[in-house]
Amino acid sequence: MPKTQILLTGGAGYIGSHTIIELLHNGYEVISVDNYNNSSPKTYERICQITGDSIKHYDIDLCDLGLTKKVFDENAEIRGVIHFAALKSVPESVEKPVLYYRNNINSLLNILDCIRNYNIPNFIFSSSCSVYGNAGQLPVNEDTPIGIIESPYAYTKLLGERIIQDCAKVHSTIKALSLRYFNPVGAHSSGLNGELPTNRPNNLVPVITQTAIGKIKEMSVFGNDYKTRDGSCIRDYIHVSDIADAHVKALKYLLAEKQDSNYSLFNLGSGKGVSVLEAIQAFEKIAKLKLNYKIVPRRAGDVEAIYSDSTKAHKLLHWKPQHDIYSMMETAWEWEQHLAKNQ
Ligand code: NAD
Ligand code: WQD
Repeated sequence: MPKTQILLTGGAGYIGSHTIIELLHNGYEVISVDNYNNSSPKTYERICQITGDSIKHYDIDLCDLGLTKKVFDENAEIRGVIHFAALKSVPESVEKPVLYYRNNINSLLNILDCIRNYNIPNFIFSSSCSVYGNAGQLPVNEDTPIGIIESPYAYTKLLGERIIQDCAKVHSTIKALSLRYFNPVGAHSSGLNGELPTNRPNNLVPVITQTAIGKIKEMSVFGNDYKTRDGSCIRDYIHVSDIADAHVKALKYLLAEKQDSNYSLFNLGSGKGVSVLEAIQAFEKIAKLKLNYKIVPRRAGDVEAIYSDSTKAHKLLHWKPQHDIYSMMETAWEWEQHLAKNQ
């Protein structure tokens, strides 16, 4: 039987590459599109090392409609698209809003154009917990009102969700899902694939591992005066392989035509709030070392606490995260050590 063909955008990136690995393990054929603005084609070599499969890939900017159409012209059997490609740095989006709106919205519009014109039925979109802003009530579920959006990046996600919902309303052939990830961290259990920040990272876990390996001399904890159990911010960290697994389950859900409407939304989080200081302690425990950190004032734009109620994904997608904070830290640390030996 021919394999079901899935087009994945942003496949050379952090979450996309882990999802390719899970899709291949589940017997799908994957085609990837990326322009490597935050990644490298070397990712495909790592995927091949892990899975034994080399995948068809295109070096294309999805903001170019003509080139995007070419991918669909050349691959007539695509049954679904998972759209990861986007710029994702919150501070950079504040500095360069036009770049973020142009890249994240134009690429989405081009993909949606193709999905409609080439009759591709299934579509999955990478959204973010950043759309909740500073939520009044915790945990947040899909019915929690959208908060005050702090950055152009988060706005591209909210706008993206709305555009997809509007399209699904009028084009009944499109079946679409938006997945709101909380804080994806960790790396593949092989130690051979993980996040590759091209600049100095802003996110907590790469900052922790880079401090431990010595790339960062001293890390900062942004604030210990929040109204939380230890004064530092609380987040819902979720292993990247659990996020990847959720995409396979979401795809199966769409392919089995289980949706009762043609657009839905799911939170993907662990459901557990972990503070910055607890994350540091978890890392220190598994790596058996002390991190060099200092407490500094709050970072602008940070929400105090957020974590997910992902009951909807548990019930409808039959997805449950398998990894705890220790496994997230352990795999992230293995990956950082692998990079140190191989760069
Ligand atoms: P990433 O930067 O590692 O991967 C995104 C990939 O998309 C990169 O390889 C980049 O080169 C590619 N890309 C960007 N614009 C493109 C374009 N115009 N044409 C072709 N390729 C393009 O990011 P990630 O962490 O893997 O995130 C994947 C998705 O998940 C993004 O949409 C991101 O906004 C979303 N998300 C990420 C997080 C997170 O913390 N990592 C949290 C919530 C949501
Ligand atoms: C986590 C906590 C920091 C670095 C971001 C995006 C969000 C989503 C996930 C894409 C915060 C603290 C961090 C450091 C620290 N991405 N911290 N020292 O801000 O929750 O979410 O990634 O959609 O949109 O905003 O993640 O990892 O940056 O921060 O103390 O050096 O760690 O203050 O409390 P964040 P993060």
